[in-house]
Amino acid sequence: MASFREKIENSEKLFTFHDLALLPNYSEVEPEAVQTTTRVSRGIKLDVPYVSSPMESVTGSALAEAMARNGGLGILHRNCSVEEQVKLAKEVKSSAVDIEKWPRATLDEDGVLRVGAAVGPQDLDRVKALVKTVDLVLVDVAHFHTESCFSGTRRILDVCPVDLVVGNIGTIGAAEDVVSKLDGVAGLRCGIGSGSTCSTSVQTRVSAPTLYAVASAADATRELGADIPIIADGGIRNPGDASIALAAGAWTAMLGSVLAAAEESPGPVETHNGRLFKRHWGMGSHKARMKRFAMDRYSKPAKNVAEGVEGLVPVRGPTSEIIEEFSGALKATCGYIGAKNIPEMWTHARFGRVSATGVQELRPHTILPSD
Ligand code: XMP
Repeated sequence: MASFREKIENSEKLFTFHDLALLPNYSEVEPEAVQTTTRVSRGIKLDVPYVSSPMESVTGSALAEAMARNGGLGILHRNCSVEEQVKLAKEVKSSAVDIEKWPRATLDEDGVLRVGAAVGPQDLDRVKALVKTVDLVLVDVAHFHTESCFSGTRRILDVCPVDLVVGNIGTIGAAEDVVSKLDGVAGLRCGIGSGSTCSTSVQTRVSAPTLYAVASAADATRELGADIPIIADGGIRNPGDASIALAAGAWTAMLGSVLAAAEESPGPVETHNGRLFKRHWGMGSHKARMKRFAMDRYSKPAKNVAEGVEGLVPVRGPTSEIIEEFSGALKATCGYIGAKNIPEMWTHARFGRVSATGVQELRPHTILPSD
């Protein structure tokens, strides 16, 4: 066995979003010519690479509908009864689509908005009830790379005719095992410990930061020749974080706190000191765990610690504007690095390391906020 000092000295570098920057390249690409189309899973194409996190403070039917109208995808949370979740899905599927007004909308073969839904790894009844309505099912668990999640997912695959995405995973080994042992998985959700509401790392010192997790899974799928799109999940605060996640191998970026701040997220607006906020809480937080349906994700009896926190996010505006801001900035990133589309980002991106002190220089500084 290696000595403890050797293990520490040879430890892996766990890069996070702010540790890296993209270097500019010679470019012939104008931002407006960039194609942002991608896939969230094997069979589901999106016009923009953004999906909403299945969290109670993020994705109800209104936000899922707004995401699909704007070319992304909403994934309904599961912190509710099966009947309630099916009702939310039906609300999205029954909303009218005016193709003139929503030319980039994410639609199924019948011209109806697409929607995804989260399930627990053992929740076969929920899967069976949802697949009559939804386009994608996501096995939503904090640590997917376990025997019980793999065996539960095998049972789910048997009854799931729509695309099945699994996660979260954080390492090459986890991605390799999914690809080689779970035939039929159509997408991977990657990142452990980076989420805005996440206290997993504080409580357990376990983490596979989103950037590291994405790059690891992307390498594994590429080496195994597997066509399994990768979702970067957790810690995306601004368009730049999403862009660097895409450059590091992701196909889509999952947004939690960013969309909790959207007008369409489920919570009411609160005013504090004259400013508008919405509430955002982790699915492993005390608040979420009070609802028994979240129990299997973070709250097994042996795991009696809260791995999430609750707080406020300043209101950002309608989902359409947030997605527009993110996709506009992504096109600008592509212009700087000379990539015409997301696959070209993977080949053209060159990363630079930023020192801990340098991080301060690479964001607005020196001037005082004027509002
Ligand atoms: P952001 O930063 O976008 O992250 O708000 C969203 C992702 O965070 C994860 N999540 C949690 N992770 N404890 C955790 O360790 C929690 O209570 C929790 N709730 C959500 C989840 O992957 C989500 O998509």
